[in-house]
Amino acid sequence: MKTNLLIFIFFSIMNLQTMSNTPKPFPNVTIIGSGYVGLVAACCLAKLKKQVCCADIDKDKIDKLKNKICPFYEPGLEELLGNAIDEKSIEFTSNIEIAIEEASIIFIAVNTPTLENGDADITAVKAVAKTIAKHLNTYKIICLKSTVPIGTHKIVEEIINKEKISDVTFDIVSIPEFLREGSAIYDFINPNRIVIGAKSKEVFDTVKSLFDNVNVKSENIIFTNNLVAETIKYVANSFLALKVSFANEISNFCDELGIDTIAVMYAVGKDERIGSQFLNPGPGFGGSCFPKDVKALKKMMEDAGVDPKLISNILSVNEAQKHIVVKRLCTLIGNDIKNKNIAVLGLAFKANTDDIREAPALTIIKELKSLGANIRAYDPKANSNMKREIPDITYCDSLNTAIEKADAILVLTEWQEFKNLDLSAIKNSVNQKIILDTRNIINSVRAIEHGFIYDAIGKNFLLRNSK
Ligand code: NAD
Ligand code: UGA
Repeated sequence: MKTNLLIFIFFSIMNLQTMSNTPKPFPNVTIIGSGYVGLVAACCLAKLKKQVCCADIDKDKIDKLKNKICPFYEPGLEELLGNAIDEKSIEFTSNIEIAIEEASIIFIAVNTPTLENGDADITAVKAVAKTIAKHLNTYKIICLKSTVPIGTHKIVEEIINKEKISDVTFDIVSIPEFLREGSAIYDFINPNRIVIGAKSKEVFDTVKSLFDNVNVKSENIIFTNNLVAETIKYVANSFLALKVSFANEISNFCDELGIDTIAVMYAVGKDERIGSQFLNPGPGFGGSCFPKDVKALKKMMEDAGVDPKLISNILSVNEAQKHIVVKRLCTLIGNDIKNKNIAVLGLAFKANTDDIREAPALTIIKELKSLGANIRAYDPKANSNMKREIPDITYCDSLNTAIEKADAILVLTEWQEFKNLDLSAIKNSVNQKIILDTRNIINSVRAIEHGFIYDAIGKNFLLRNSK
């Protein structure tokens, strides 16, 4: 009897110790919107040992995700998705109501596209807010991860207060996302900062604890208010876009004088106050965010009665850049581009993504088509997305097919495959040996050695060689 009691006490103590060592179960996280941002956040949080539910109104997308199929190309994401499903740390649903009820932290990561007047369209954010209100069964923290116009957290708060069916309380946190497509997983796990806009330190701490295993210095987890957090996102994207437009405008100037912009920017960027990133000239910036967010900031400034002189010009310089590319190509080809075969290498707005939203290729191809050129396009990942937007050009399933009988090769995206272009092999399959490299990725010395007329944005080779 005495022995039994001792055994009971021993196991009770062990059990208590085990219990106190067991981390508190983490609150369930639901992410609403399983696009680039929502899915990356969900898979990365699952990798960081959080229990995540990913919800979306798009049933086809959810079905694909349940079957471990990533609906878009992002390096490493499909593998992360498969692992998270195998480990049962992630689930997918189109039943948004239940996903809300079961969560204690909700991320809103739905799309916020541009309206005709430049404003960001927050219809989807408002719709989600209404659904949350109707299913607010317990206290929840609602995190706005979508990029939303400054003040949106107030609108979401008002909607939930107006529509909610109980006295249950909630908090709204503004937590903008800074990941880049193509390196989204790396950026999520190794962010240079995390911005958390919250009303109280307690709420900030709860949200911060979600990122415990993320590789970020604690001083770079920034506690601020919602308004500042919302503003940071627009200012950051607009500043990066400003750098790109600046580099493009300088490259146009340097190209007129035959000066190597890349060499200029290399030395300019060595000044730590300036920094070397986002100073590469190119065909203009694209993507789902720079154009949209700069337009939205411009509109918000106008609404506030502030003349957005500089911000407006970020956009006009960017638009002009795409036409400059067409003009440069026409000049190279001898101005008569009608019926000429143009091999367009790269359709995505940048490398390592299949995203063509606002890609410079959209404008450039349409303009070349209107001039009568025959387009033979190739992108390692974005052919099918572009085909939906521009169906009536020739899509090639390899680089070699695209350049067959080309009168000029136009490089628009900096894919690794294009950097390794085998110039000695391709020179025999083209009609005319002309290359316009808008990304400065092809070895110019070798191109010229192989008899190509080679030109690049930011390196006006023709002018430099004629001087
Ligand atoms: P996306 O279009 O890839 O995905 C949005 C998803 O939300 C879609 O799957 C859509 O079906 C879903 N959705 C729309 N309405 C919904 C609703 N009512 N309920 C549930 N799901 C709904 O968009 P994205 O690129 O992931 O961008 C999302 C937000 O994040 C945007 O505000 C964007 O500006 C911002 N952002 C994007 C990036 C990026 O690299 N793409 C980076 C930082 C911030
Ligand atoms: C950008 C920001 O870098 C992210 O921090 C932000 O989270 C994201 O927008 C967003 O809000 O969606 P992303 O659009 O994925 O990320 O791509 P970037 O690498 O920033 O490139 C944007 C565009 O600028 C691309 O078209 C790229 O080719 C162009 N670019 C970039 C240049 O032309 N030159 C450069 O030197 C850098």
